[in-house]
Amino acid sequence: MGYKSIAIDGPSGAGKSTLARKVAQAMGYLYVDTGAIYRTLGLAALRRKVDPENGEAVIPLLDQVSIDLRHGADGLQHMYLDGEDVSAAIREPEVSRYASGVSAIPEVRAFLMEMQRDLARRNNVVMDGRDIGTVVLPQADVKIFLTARAEDRARRRYEELRERGSEVDYQTVLKDLLARDEKDTHRAAAPLRQAAGAVVLDTTGKNLEESFRLVLDAVEKGVGA
Ligand code: DC
Repeated sequence: MGYKSIAIDGPSGAGKSTLARKVAQAMGYLYVDTGAIYRTLGLAALRRKVDPENGEAVIPLLDQVSIDLRHGADGLQHMYLDGEDVSAAIREPEVSRYASGVSAIPEVRAFLMEMQRDLARRNNVVMDGRDIGTVVLPQADVKIFLTARAEDRARRRYEELRERGSEVDYQTVLKDLLARDEKDTHRAAAPLRQAAGAVVLDTTGKNLEESFRLVLDAVEKGVGA
């Protein structure tokens, strides 16, 4: 029997990572945050002052930097850039913009996809991202498209950033989020869209526990737990 995979896609701030992590824990699966991989390359571009929108400048980075993903004993995913643990650094709002830029480059996506597929070949996974059900794991056992109203998503992102000590204001977070939605949905390479056979779950107005139940129900139905 092969390994099981659960794909969770959706726009930023829908609660994907928190919910995917909780579902993985409940199921005993490995949680894979694919956005963190793009963020790590985005951070590399930022540090080297490479324009993230410029494919010709970004593509050579793929050979120049090393990006590793490792799971700690606690099951948490850590990202390494040239051996340095950058798991916290990649959460800065500026890195979000760089991640969105580099992720629109087809060569970047092709290069980073193998890392993602390899994890699913060796583990039961809950993988979250933008193109997991559509491109990375189209054969996933369960595909979920998780969404919520933009204002709800921005409020969650805002609170998350504030908790981490970032000095952001809500309007800026909302504006950035809408800009990123627009970019992620309209880019030519693997745009964010609902996969065939995906269950759409909307977490607008739902708290964490209610959203978690919604997702876990869909997962349990799908994998026959
Ligand atoms: O989920 P996130 O905010 O950490 O993702 C950061 C960026 O990476 C986001 O703008 C879209 C991109 N991304 C992607 O293109 N494909 C994925 N599978 C995951 C993220």
